[in-house]
Amino acid sequence: MTTSHDLVVIGGGPAGYAAALFASASGLDAGLVEESKLGGTCLHVGCIPAKELLETASVLRTVRQAAEFGVTVGEPVVDLAVSQERKQQVVDGLSKGLTGLLAGRNVTVYAGTGHLGVDHTVTVDGGDPAVLQAPHIVLATGSSPRTIPGFDIDGTLVVTSDELLSITEAPDRVAVIGGGAIGCEFASMLCDLGSSVTLLEAMPEILPGCDADAAKAVRRAFRKRKIDVHVGVLVHGHDPDGSATTVRFGDDGSVEVDLVVVAVGRRPRGDAAGLVGTRVEVDDRGFVVVDDRLRTAEPGVYAVGDVVATPQLAHVGFAEGMFVVRDLLGENPVPVDPSTVPWCIYSHPEVAFAGLTEAAAREAGHDVVVSSHRFMGNGRAMIVGETDGLVKVVAEKGPDGRAGRILGVHLVGPWVTEQLGQGYLAVNWEATVDEVAAFIQPHPTLSELFGETVLSLTGRSLHG
Ligand code: NAI
Repeated sequence: MTTSHDLVVIGGGPAGYAAALFASASGLDAGLVEESKLGGTCLHVGCIPAKELLETASVLRTVRQAAEFGVTVGEPVVDLAVSQERKQQVVDGLSKGLTGLLAGRNVTVYAGTGHLGVDHTVTVDGGDPAVLQAPHIVLATGSSPRTIPGFDIDGTLVVTSDELLSITEAPDRVAVIGGGAIGCEFASMLCDLGSSVTLLEAMPEILPGCDADAAKAVRRAFRKRKIDVHVGVLVHGHDPDGSATTVRFGDDGSVEVDLVVVAVGRRPRGDAAGLVGTRVEVDDRGFVVVDDRLRTAEPGVYAVGDVVATPQLAHVGFAEGMFVVRDLLGENPVPVDPSTVPWCIYSHPEVAFAGLTEAAAREAGHDVVVSSHRFMGNGRAMIVGETDGLVKVVAEKGPDGRAGRILGVHLVGPWVTEQLGQGYLAVNWEATVDEVAAFIQPHPTLSELFGETVLSLTGRSLHG
């Protein structure tokens, strides 16, 4: 028997469940097929568990710093088994909430693997075998960790983010391969937890995609924390010896470690939904090929989230999930612009940005003017004892030579992931320096530094 829906979504991660929930909120009858756990990578082996464990690291830092504030505590001891339990409680709580939300919105959830075939038919294998049909299909099959030759994932000596998020003991020595968002977050967390960390990045700088000054500030802060950062190095392989292994990198570099974390990107799962007999194309990297409205070559079939070549971020998935529902309803929504989405990286120091880096702005042909201020002189930063980091604003130079529209906002430092809001709005509202400088920043706050940085671009400043 075939069950009909208005929309069938294959994949229940953030992008997929957002499409299903938003379809339901729009009055459509939605079916959602998930082969593993609702919530996907983000909820089970990504954003949520990673940030939860990073919070353990943050609490530990606070306790270690307590003496500076005259608060005497003994040497803190971390029981990672307890941290893991807490992490799981957070994950389980959100998971239960999501299941309830989908049920409350009358989204029909099918457990099993969905295969899209001809005529918009989705066959579900596994838990709830079914044959579904809908005029609109959304592919949201996500991504999985990439690996590199010579580093087979064995789950004990060589792991990816999937396995690392379940550790109950911090390794004494660890090599993190890849200095992207995942590599930097894990390097930072493991360093806090007491591991001796070597971070190996192939590109000339860590955090590709970040503004050069922001990435440099993080690299410097990492070095201050004794994270051994090597940039511009390729890893060649590793030589296990009992419970340790020696990673070879660069011309003649090597490091003996107890754990290797491979964090070299995530591979899209473009081929995960069958697609046999359809016109949907998958490129050689594994991405489902879509146009700027996230439409595949098969009419009525969209793809969203990590499986398409847009930033692999949960919040981009949410936005894309909602976008395709509005598009199929003929509401003519504005496509998600990958160049202005917000980015938040939860290492210590944190990184947050939206819009163009200085280099990208120049490359795009903008005449730019830039201002950058450090948290060193910010009252709240001194109060909380976190003065590393900076705010950098990239603005377009107007015909009068003055700073005009804000093109990019780049933050490194304390709680900047919670401070990006204003910068994100400024970039996406195409606000000018003069407009934003007129806003009052509450005092004393960390966000005053954003106000100060924008103010100085007007040609006059107070503290900077
Ligand atoms: P990524 O693509 O951001 O970074 C991978 C890094 O590994 C790159 O810097 C690359 O140059 C380097 N690399 C690749 N091959 C290498 C090799 N053989 N040796 C040394 N370095 C090598 O990927 P990442 O960090 O794994 O994250 C995957 C996706 O998830 C990204 O799109 C990322 O933005 C997203 N993500 C975002 C987070 C956030 O925003 N807080 C957190 C976690 C993931």
